[in-house]
Amino acid sequence: MTIPRHIAIIMDGNGRWAKQRGLPRIRGHEEGAESLRAVLTACGEQGVEFLTVYAFSTENWKRPKTEVAALMRLLTHFLKKEIPDLMAKNVRLQAIGRLTDLPDFCRRELHNAIETTAQNTGVTLVLALSYSGRMEIIDGIQSLLREIKLGHIDAAMIDAEVFSKHLYTRYYPDPDLLIRTSGEMRISNFLLWQLSYTEMYVTTKLWPDFRKPDLLDAIRDYNQRQRRYGGL
Ligand code: FPP
Repeated sequence: MTIPRHIAIIMDGNGRWAKQRGLPRIRGHEEGAESLRAVLTACGEQGVEFLTVYAFSTENWKRPKTEVAALMRLLTHFLKKEIPDLMAKNVRLQAIGRLTDLPDFCRRELHNAIETTAQNTGVTLVLALSYSGRMEIIDGIQSLLREIKLGHIDAAMIDAEVFSKHLYTRYYPDPDLLIRTSGEMRISNFLLWQLSYTEMYVTTKLWPDFRKPDLLDAIRDYNQRQRRYGGL
């Protein structure tokens, strides 16, 4: 079986999972964190090199204050509590997005987790936090313009490869497989540039119900695809 080198996931449906059970939405997010743990472990076992998850979009700031605060607390708690496990699993943690938007207590834990796990050589787990694909592209253009102004690059030399080096994801290959849960057929402003040739897998399962067997189903489905990148 071909194992995708990089898997990206839109972890959707936590709220619906909780609603179906008459539970507060945050319980869905908590159970979603369990799914992330399980999927990360399975990625390590399968030899996936990069796992990028959409944990919080710039649009998510518009949710009620109580839910935003609960998500920030959950994320901070996850980062703190998970470090020994990330070390044991040899996982390197990274983050993309406008990280300066995050509350200080959360940013501190995030930087601590990133530094502590920096030398690990197993799966790289990339958390997309306060992330927007369009914003990333605009930030990339601004970074390019600064380089041009400084005379470091010539505008005529800009191509897809040069531009990719100005995105938050410059250190990672493009995703091979995008998984979206809860049946929605949308990209929702996630990795707009990087998903150009990515295979998509949409399942109606809600994210808190998505575990190792579901990841293996997605990888098997990916193996049925023929990737031609626009060629024959
Ligand atoms: C989408 O479900 C999910 C999110 C907005 C947050 C994702 C967060 C987690 C999985 C929590 C764990 C993550 C970390 C890094 C600890 P939704 O709330 O949009 O669900 P709905 O569409 O059913 O309302």
